[in-house]
Amino acid sequence: MDLHKEGDRGSAKQKKVKIVFVIGGPGSGKGTQCKRIAQQFGYTHLSVGEILRQEISSGSETGSMIQKIMKEGKLVPSDVTVRLLQQAMQGINSDKFLIDGFPRNEENVKAFEDLTKMEPEFVLYLDCPQDEMEKRLLSRNEGREDDNIETIRKRFKVFMESTLPTIEYYESKGKIRKVDAGKSVDEVFESIKVIFSQGKDNKVPPSRHKCKCLIL
Ligand code: AP5
Repeated sequence: MDLHKEGDRGSAKQKKVKIVFVIGGPGSGKGTQCKRIAQQFGYTHLSVGEILRQEISSGSETGSMIQKIMKEGKLVPSDVTVRLLQQAMQGINSDKFLIDGFPRNEENVKAFEDLTKMEPEFVLYLDCPQDEMEKRLLSRNEGREDDNIETIRKRFKVFMESTLPTIEYYESKGKIRKVDAGKSVDEVFESIKVIFSQGKDNKVPPSRHKCKCLIL
């Protein structure tokens, strides 16, 4: 996938773009930890859930369709999700993307690979007990339409049925980096730091830390 806009072509040397996917059940702490990773390791954080919520806010027909699906705790079709994700990536000049909440099923994996011909460097899996995730979501209080017990349970079911097989797929490729996400925010981040510090080129000197999170 050419991540650069038309006007950028030829003006900049083609960069190798590094992608890390972050997956985990609803409330496992993906958004919370991605903000910290972006800040400390210089990644651009893209939350797929947030991209979809922005489309809902735009008032488009696609947005109405997404809203209905999200309310039911189901997955948005991959062609829509991957197109919006690609647009978001093309709009940002970065060579390190942290993609939060993706992929969620095998269709997501295939759509991404077909479109981009790219593979993630690795996949961070936040493994958290369901009762802990439920407790976190019920006390989040941010007015999300899908944070009610009925929809939360459906989201758990979708995670078990659709997302776990993608974890197995990446495990077979040696790309899963699993952390125990049931601990405190600081403890989870300590484990994550070890993973992101392993590749030398992941390290960014403090003065060059950048955070281009779409969600702040
Ligand atoms: P999305 O917005 O990604 O929701 P989610 O996966 O259900 O995850 P959440 O955002 O609810 O939780 P999180 O893991 O980010 O945890 P957070 O850090 O916020 O997706 C929503 C919907 O969009 C999906 O259901 C689907 O319909 C659709 N969608 C998204 N991606 C899609 C895709 N690829 N394909 C198709 N459809 C897609 O933390 C939660 C709470 O816990 C916060 O209050 C936080 O402060 C707290 N907390 C976090 N960590 C800790 C900790 N360690 N200890 C205590 N509290 C903590």
